[in-house]
Amino acid sequence: MSTAKISSSRPLRVGIVGWRGMVGSVLMSRMQAEDDFAGIEPVFFSTSQAGGAAPDVGHGTSTLLDASDPAAFDGLDVILTCQGGDWTKAMYPAIRGRGWGGHWIDAASALRMTDETVIVLDPLNRHVIDRAYAGGTRTWAGGNCTVSLMLMGLGALFRNGWVEWMTTMTYQAASGAGARNMRELVAQMRAIGDAAATQLDDPATGALELDRTVAEAVTAGGFPTAQFGAPLAGSVLPWIDSLQPDGATREEWKGHVEANKILALDPVVPVDGLCVRVGAMRSHAQAVTIRLTRDVPLADIAAAIAESTPWTVVVPNEKPASLARLTPVAVSGTLTVPVGRLRKLRMGPEYLTAFTVGDQLLWGAAEPLRRMLRILREHVGT
Ligand code: HSE
Repeated sequence: MSTAKISSSRPLRVGIVGWRGMVGSVLMSRMQAEDDFAGIEPVFFSTSQAGGAAPDVGHGTSTLLDASDPAAFDGLDVILTCQGGDWTKAMYPAIRGRGWGGHWIDAASALRMTDETVIVLDPLNRHVIDRAYAGGTRTWAGGNCTVSLMLMGLGALFRNGWVEWMTTMTYQAASGAGARNMRELVAQMRAIGDAAATQLDDPATGALELDRTVAEAVTAGGFPTAQFGAPLAGSVLPWIDSLQPDGATREEWKGHVEANKILALDPVVPVDGLCVRVGAMRSHAQAVTIRLTRDVPLADIAAAIAESTPWTVVVPNEKPASLARLTPVAVSGTLTVPVGRLRKLRMGPEYLTAFTVGDQLLWGAAEPLRRMLRILREHVGT
């Protein structure tokens, strides 16, 4: 066994991999903001710059270790990775295969659905985490961003047993596709702005004339679409990830399997819908339809949602509040997960609709991971 015994008499030794990428950078800044580094001994890894200088997070200077060398992880208590699924697929079996028995905390989807892994979203599933920890679980994965954000908003309804089924129609931001996609979205916006600039400056230009210019710009040869494969600015893309055998995309499939796994729902509650990319930068939104198990009064629903986590807020079903507080722009860079447009549908009192939005890089990615590290520290008493 190459893992040192975890003991409350010393800080956890935490190997951090993939800290420079987009999710990793958000994780690092959240850990710094919450003073998480003060209680651990961080060891930084790199796949490309081993031997270089590691970031100083309050522990002085150190050297980057080689993230491709399984032996370099010997003796760590925890591995915290945002390096991505390919690295996980290669290194998880190699490191575990050496007898490493520490806690693996992973942002990627590679391990999420394996039996040995618990998907962490502790404001909703702390009971699942604690039970699994006691039972010997040592592998923890953050959930798919859309699923985690949906549950941060609406998880209370599942926990109360009020959901017979749910459809989710998503409006997913560019960041979910990656850092290069965010740049491409802005480059597309610029190309449109540049093409339309003269007409836009002339108030006499008709809307249809402007529209023709935009339509020409987005289909012109040089228009940047290398990442998305199509114009996203001025459009929407009704496809995220790969095709599944039943015609769903993998992103849509995750909605069902991950939501059920995170909350350990029994019996299983069907969750399905359509996942769509829109021109938001880093916050995912989704419109849901819920078939309730009974006619729960709207006031009870709003109260349960509002009380479910300290970050979940109910926005009144009014235009000014919805435009001010229930948009990607309103929540980006914050941990707040608003839920609004709550009303019963005309199909009957058991049919509820809602709209919710959250920062895809925070609750959708980094936040559950850093909180899992805190939970480990609670368990081992450091
Ligand atoms: N797969 C998500 C998306 C992001 O494409 O938006 C990560 O969960």
